[in-house]
Amino acid sequence: MSRPEFENHDWVTFLEATTSRGPLEYFHSAMEFVDGNRGKGRQAIDLGCGGGADTRGLLARGWRVLAVDAEPEARRMLELRTPDAHRERLEIMIGQFHAVLLPPADLVYAQFSLPFAGDDHHAAVVNALSAVSPGGAFVGQLFGEHDDWASDPHVAWVDRNWIEQTFSDFAEVDIDERDNEGPYGTEGSIKRWHFFHIRARR
Ligand SMILES: C[S@@+](CC[C@H](N)C(=O)[O-])C[C@H]1O[C@@H](n2cnc3c(N)ncnc32)[C@H](O)[C@@H]1O
Repeated sequence: MSRPEFENHDWVTFLEATTSRGPLEYFHSAMEFVDGNRGKGRQAIDLGCGGGADTRGLLARGWRVLAVDAEPEARRMLELRTPDAHRERLEIMIGQFHAVLLPPADLVYAQFSLPFAGDDHHAAVVNALSAVSPGGAFVGQLFGEHDDWASDPHVAWVDRNWIEQTFSDFAEVDIDERDNEGPYGTEGSIKRWHFFHIRARR
């Protein structure tokens, strides 16, 4: 079934613009949180894998990776750019965050992806967290109300209270709130960013 929230954004353009970049600071922060350079034998889920930079970063560190995205083009980009030697540790799933059946994982990584589930945001986050194994981690970003995109009815935002309640069964929750003007896209545009960089351990 088609999803208006998903179709409201031009994700193919985003994927094309970002597919050749390397991991961002949030990814390195996640790796620090889970000792991620020792991925061998561990399962990660890259939720909203987009152009595939973080999936490739995980594979390069030895993780098995389930890359999930609703945009079918994500599969083609990953297949194009994943080195043959890493292919057997990669599974690709095309589907919606709230509806996909996720396996247990040592790391669920959702970089700037879950807010775009729109009306399905709550179910999407619950589904993501349910995949985190005991001792495993979730790392991802959720938007706050001051973000320029929070006024878009297809983008979900939360507050610190919501996060604390939703992650209440996690043993450790580290919330790094950012609220600042900053660049986005490839053409030097500036927007107000307000988001929570969340690192949680079950
Ligand atoms: C802002 S991009 C982030 C991509 C990647 N994590 C990154 O940081 O470059 C959001 C991604 O989520 C995907 N997406 C948006 N809504 C989705 C949904 N409801 N279910 C699954 N994927 C979705 C988009 O196709 C896109 O690849």
